[in-house]
Amino acid sequence: AKITYIEFNGTEHVIDVGSGENVMTAAIKNMVPGIDADCGGACSCGTCHVFVDEPWLDKVGPPGEFEEPMLDLNPDRAANSRLSCQIEVTEALDGLIVRIPEFQF
Ligand code: FES
Repeated sequence: AKITYIEFNGTEHVIDVGSGENVMTAAIKNMVPGIDADCGGACSCGTCHVFVDEPWLDKVGPPGEFEEPMLDLNPDRAANSRLSCQIEVTEALDGLIVRIPEFQF
Protein backbone atom coordinates (compact mmCIF):
# COMPACT_ATOMS: atom_id res chain seq x y z
CA ALA A 1 0.00 0.00 0.00
CA LYS A 2 1.23 3.47 -0.82
CA ILE A 3 1.32 5.68 2.23
CA THR A 4 2.01 9.38 2.19
CA TYR A 5 3.63 10.92 5.25
CA ILE A 6 3.53 14.69 5.41
CA GLU A 7 5.96 16.46 7.73
CA PHE A 8 4.86 19.54 9.61
CA ASN A 9 6.81 21.68 7.14
CA GLY A 10 4.91 20.16 4.23
CA THR A 11 7.59 17.76 2.99
CA GLU A 12 5.96 14.62 1.63
CA HIS A 13 7.31 11.09 1.75
CA VAL A 14 5.46 8.53 -0.34
CA ILE A 15 6.37 5.02 0.71
CA ASP A 16 5.33 1.61 -0.56
CA VAL A 17 4.53 -0.38 2.56
CA GLY A 18 3.97 -4.13 2.59
CA SER A 19 1.00 -5.66 4.36
CA GLY A 20 1.95 -6.83 7.83
CA GLU A 21 4.07 -3.77 8.52
CA ASN A 22 2.66 -0.89 10.46
CA VAL A 23 2.73 2.81 9.69
CA MET A 24 5.52 3.40 12.23
CA THR A 25 7.95 0.63 11.13
CA ALA A 26 7.75 1.78 7.53
CA ALA A 27 8.49 5.36 8.56
CA ILE A 28 11.53 4.31 10.61
CA LYS A 29 12.93 2.11 7.81
CA ASN A 30 12.61 4.98 5.39
CA MET A 31 13.94 7.60 7.79
CA VAL A 32 10.85 9.77 7.79
CA PRO A 33 11.65 12.56 10.26
CA GLY A 34 9.36 13.24 13.20
CA ILE A 35 8.56 9.64 14.07
CA ASP A 36 10.92 8.54 16.82
CA ALA A 37 9.14 5.45 18.13
CA ASP A 38 11.24 5.28 21.30
CA CYS A 39 9.44 2.20 22.58
CA GLY A 40 9.80 0.28 19.33
CA GLY A 41 6.09 -0.15 18.78
CA ALA A 42 4.92 -1.27 22.20
CA CYS A 43 2.26 1.44 22.44
CA SER A 44 4.00 2.92 25.47
CA CYS A 45 6.00 5.98 24.37
CA GLY A 46 3.65 8.11 22.27
CA THR A 47 6.50 9.35 20.04
CA CYS A 48 4.98 7.90 16.89
CA HIS A 49 1.97 10.22 16.95
CA VAL A 50 0.31 11.04 13.64
CA PHE A 51 -2.81 12.79 12.47
CA VAL A 52 -4.81 10.62 10.08
CA ASP A 53 -6.12 12.55 7.08
CA GLU A 54 -9.88 12.98 7.66
CA PRO A 55 -11.17 10.95 4.66
CA TRP A 56 -9.23 7.95 5.99
CA LEU A 57 -10.50 7.98 9.55
CA ASP A 58 -13.17 5.32 9.00
CA LYS A 59 -10.85 2.91 7.25
CA VAL A 60 -8.09 3.31 9.82
CA GLY A 61 -10.52 2.98 12.69
CA PRO A 62 -10.45 4.32 16.25
CA PRO A 63 -7.54 4.01 18.70
CA GLY A 64 -7.30 0.77 20.61
CA GLU A 65 -7.92 0.17 24.29
CA PHE A 66 -4.28 0.80 25.29
CA GLU A 67 -3.63 3.41 22.65
CA GLU A 68 -6.38 5.81 23.69
CA PRO A 69 -4.95 6.51 27.19
CA MET A 70 -1.47 7.04 25.67
CA LEU A 71 -2.86 9.58 23.24
CA ASP A 72 -4.70 11.29 26.04
CA LEU A 73 -1.45 12.02 27.88
CA ASN A 74 -0.71 14.47 25.10
CA PRO A 75 -2.53 17.79 25.55
CA ASP A 76 -2.11 18.49 21.83
CA ARG A 77 -3.82 15.34 20.63
CA ALA A 78 -6.59 15.79 18.10
CA ALA A 79 -9.73 13.84 17.21
CA ASN A 80 -7.80 12.25 14.35
CA SER A 81 -4.73 11.38 16.41
CA ARG A 82 -3.38 7.83 16.24
CA LEU A 83 -0.17 6.14 17.28
CA SER A 84 1.36 5.03 14.00
CA CYS A 85 2.74 1.81 15.51
CA GLN A 86 -0.83 0.74 16.12
CA ILE A 87 -1.94 1.15 12.51
CA GLU A 88 -1.44 -2.14 10.74
CA VAL A 89 -1.00 -1.76 7.00
CA THR A 90 -3.27 -3.67 4.62
CA GLU A 91 -4.06 -3.11 0.95
CA ALA A 92 -7.27 -1.41 2.13
CA LEU A 93 -5.06 1.47 3.29
CA ASP A 94 -3.55 2.06 -0.15
CA GLY A 95 -3.41 5.85 -0.55
CA LEU A 96 -3.46 6.63 3.16
CA ILE A 97 -2.22 10.06 4.17
CA VAL A 98 -0.86 10.80 7.65
CA ARG A 99 0.48 14.11 8.91
CA ILE A 100 3.23 14.37 11.46
CA PRO A 101 2.35 16.92 14.16
CA GLU A 102 4.53 19.92 14.91
CA PHE A 103 5.21 18.66 18.45
CA GLN A 104 7.02 15.62 17.06
CA PHE A 105 9.82 17.77 15.61
FE1 FES B 1 6.02 3.88 21.03
FE2 FES B 1 4.25 3.81 19.01
S1 FES B 1 6.36 3.46 18.94
S2 FES B 1 3.91 4.20 21.10
